[in-house]
Amino acid sequence: MNAEGLVEVVLPGKVEPEGLELRYGAVPTAGPGQVVVRMEATGVSFAEQQMRRGKYYDQPPFPFVPGYDLVGTVTGTGAGVDPALTGTRVAAMVKTGGWASHVLVDAADTVPVPEGIGPAEAETVVVNGVTAWQMLHTKARVRAGGTVLVHGANGGVGTVLVQLARAAGIKVIGTASPRHHDALRAQGVTPVDYRAGNVAARVRELAPGGVDAVFDHVGGPGLVDSWRLLAPGGTLVSYGSAATRDVEGSKQLPVLKILARVLLWNALPNGRHAYFYNIWAGARAKDRFRARLAADLTQVFAALRRGDISARVAARIPLDRAPEALRLAESGTVAGKVVLIP
Ligand SMILES: NC(=O)c1ccc[n+]([C@@H]2O[C@H](COP(=O)([O-])OP(=O)(O)OC[C@H]3O[C@@H](n4cnc5c(N)ncnc54)[C@H](OP(=O)(O)O)[C@@H]3O)[C@@H](O)[C@H]2O)c1
Repeated sequence: MNAEGLVEVVLPGKVEPEGLELRYGAVPTAGPGQVVVRMEATGVSFAEQQMRRGKYYDQPPFPFVPGYDLVGTVTGTGAGVDPALTGTRVAAMVKTGGWASHVLVDAADTVPVPEGIGPAEAETVVVNGVTAWQMLHTKARVRAGGTVLVHGANGGVGTVLVQLARAAGIKVIGTASPRHHDALRAQGVTPVDYRAGNVAARVRELAPGGVDAVFDHVGGPGLVDSWRLLAPGGTLVSYGSAATRDVEGSKQLPVLKILARVLLWNALPNGRHAYFYNIWAGARAKDRFRARLAADLTQVFAALRRGDISARVAARIPLDRAPEALRLAESGTVAGKVVLIP
């Protein structure tokens, strides 16, 4: 790989993972308010699986550099930025652009990574950790002793969510493929096989009075079950539409359908609540959004240092082998996050 210059992975259009391209150039210079981050770890998220199918609800036009989040060291600062940032390790959520050896980021969008946390470990909890933290602590607000249902409990977001909930004294029922059940039991989670097809009935057996919250990234028809499984006063947090990843057609329609349901359910006088969680909600109010993101990611890093949550790196794969990394992440055979490294 080109050690001195810029290397970027480009998504040229709707392609199989092998259709990703490499682009080489000069390392960018930080403009006013910006820093250059030399990437040490960048993640393969579910978002890139949707983007390569043209199915992420607000992806930019092709071609573009994917990469939702990254961790790296600041190597240059622009005008108005404290030069002392140079040499520090930071994390950033960029939605696209992270799959590159060097990334320009607004300094205000970077969050310091504490000493003692390695780049790949930190990477696993940037978007996944903030998502899990905000859904649990800002949206659902379940008390200790309560019970929640986490779909995809062994996935990237699910893993962090489960551990944060357990650390807060919350009981967890988690759906996952059977091969993950032992790992879930070891974390104190009651596993349910979503592939067996009777998820709602099984959850009702385990929690006859309903659950205090359901976290649902699957969407599709099963979302109605998620709503019906709530106890009085319970909260549904829908945050994805994994069920429609391979369905041809509009990228916005699946989310719009969920939003319509959420509106309808909230209008019912039944004391239950539904949200569609979007990590970018409120991003137009930049200062408030940045402050909240930084505060929440800092909490997640602290939870990682305390050992409340553990980082699960499924594989470390060099950036120039991004197709292999995406293929692996999509294979459904790994537990934890596939991380790209320089
Ligand atoms: N709204 C937001 O702001 C936001 C932010 C971040 C992520 N997300 C969404 O979060 C979701 C998860 O992302 P991720 O990176 O954690 O993905 P991931 O690591 O691929 O995990 C997804 C998990 O979903 C499980 N799964 C698949 N189909 C399922 C079903 N029908 N029922 C229950 N579980 C099922 C899989 O479980 P098995 O391996 O056990 O089969 C897999 O572990 C994505 O849909 C993503 O778009 C949304």
